[in-house]
Amino acid sequence: MEVVIVPDAKAGGELIAEAMAQLLRRKPDALLGVATGSTPLPVYEALAARVRSGAVDTARARIAQLDEYVGLPADHPESYRSVLRREVLEPLGIGMDAFLGPDGTAEDVQAACEEYDRALGEAGGVDLQLLGIGTDGHIGFNEPCSSLASRTRIKTLTEQTRVDNARFFDGDIEQVPHHVITQGIGTILEARHVVLLATGEGKADAVAASVEGPVAALCPASALQLHPHATVVVDEAAAGKL
Ligand code: GLP
Repeated sequence: MEVVIVPDAKAGGELIAEAMAQLLRRKPDALLGVATGSTPLPVYEALAARVRSGAVDTARARIAQLDEYVGLPADHPESYRSVLRREVLEPLGIGMDAFLGPDGTAEDVQAACEEYDRALGEAGGVDLQLLGIGTDGHIGFNEPCSSLASRTRIKTLTEQTRVDNARFFDGDIEQVPHHVITQGIGTILEARHVVLLATGEGKADAVAASVEGPVAALCPASALQLHPHATVVVDEAAAGKL
């Protein structure tokens, strides 16, 4: 696992956007796995700037979703599909035809999970998976105690994660769904390159546990220690407990 400490979130965004741009130059139809949350936004902004300036071409790029709320209609502004369309696909000039994601409104959610897991493999696998990290060390929506070998499946959110995410639902925790679909930890680890970005001192404990703690289901992000090509990019505040 490589740990890169950058001065601030903007520098982290630039670093990861450049890695994505280099990948797309080498492999124009690369499948980029993307995360939601506030942390990755500087990455998407820096990559979009490169697209606008012509430094990278996304005409053949493909995007894969990491996780999704169960039960929110796809056109709900806070469904992760909508969020990614707004924050990633549109700014990068990538159409929904190049988007892979699970169906959070499927009648049979478990079948939708399995179908998505299969679809990722059939698409050739994720080339670069960008991750954020929850304050409890979760990646995607793999909460503590998730199996390190898990596949894409339905999960129940912890109270803490619902509290953390209430800010996207007018601060009203009642509106935050209880159930989600998430790529499993085993699924995430199949990406060829996994890049985790963490910024701010609120993530310092989770980063220290993931990087320097034991590999343990109690801290899902610690599973990245098992990956042959994992990069953890942290700003100075998030690196404060390393
Ligand atoms: C959610 C997402 C995660 C994300 C986490 C942290 O739980 N499912 O993928 O990493 O939030 O979000 P933020 O970057 O806003 O702190």
